[in-house]
Amino acid sequence: MSESVETRPSSQVPPHELPASLRDAGLANWIREPLDDAVDRRRRIIMPPAAATMGTPASAYQAALLAEGQQPDAIFMMGDNPALAKMPERPALKDFYLLRFGPIPRTHLLQSARVARENGLDEKVIMACLLHDIAIAGLLSANHGYWGAQLVAPYVAAEIAWAIEKHEALRYFPDESVGYRYPEAYIGYFGAGYHPPDYIRREHEAARRHRWYMTSRLITINDIYSFDPDVVVDFDEFEDVVGRNFRQPAEGLGFDGSPVAHMWRTMIWPNNFL
Ligand SMILES: [Fe+2]
Ligand SMILES: [Fe+2]
Repeated sequence: MSESVETRPSSQVPPHELPASLRDAGLANWIREPLDDAVDRRRRIIMPPAAATMGTPASAYQAALLAEGQQPDAIFMMGDNPALAKMPERPALKDFYLLRFGPIPRTHLLQSARVARENGLDEKVIMACLLHDIAIAGLLSANHGYWGAQLVAPYVAAEIAWAIEKHEALRYFPDESVGYRYPEAYIGYFGAGYHPPDYIRREHEAARRHRWYMTSRLITINDIYSFDPDVVVDFDEFEDVVGRNFRQPAEGLGFDGSPVAHMWRTMIWPNNFL
């Protein structure tokens, strides 16, 4: 793993005088104690986003967290969360991989890109493999192909963004002509009888007829699941590919005023109250 993971501050927070309801629910980690050298001694309350808690027991604690945030010694989290590595002022793609993405999705993306390179595939396919699940890594899992495509669209060739979007639907449908089978892993994830919804079926059928079909299909072929923690792939292996295929904005991702800048800022400061 990269050195940034080891140097990341501990997320362990000593329990404060929490209301019992929050403590019993294990919500202590949503409340940041001030660090010893913090100028501002107030606690920072993290309100988890609706998309992460809807339909889960955690949604029941919204009112309690809201009340906690209004205590005189507390404010809501805005800006840098000390539990996360500080991002540079002008973050580049690599900073998100090293300072924000967890080891499992990061390794998955880097390994997929490495396999694509070993298979001698075109650079745009290697780049698409490197990016294909970044929404899972840093933003949202549901509809991840679509979120991921939007995140990168201003910075990559249209074909790469298209391929990332469509890989989500193509994963469910075999293509024997290129040796792609329904993933074993999906049987474990969703059960043997799972049928993708109609909108995914329609997406697959339309993608099949598109001139860029094979670019997206190649993502699914190189979309290997290997979560071996001993396998280390360095992001710098792809520095050349990224340099030629990802237009890093000079102002940094999140600050270039693009239509998706807010999505990158959400990954920089994922715990902001607003
Ligand atoms: Fe995916
Ligand atoms: Fe994947």
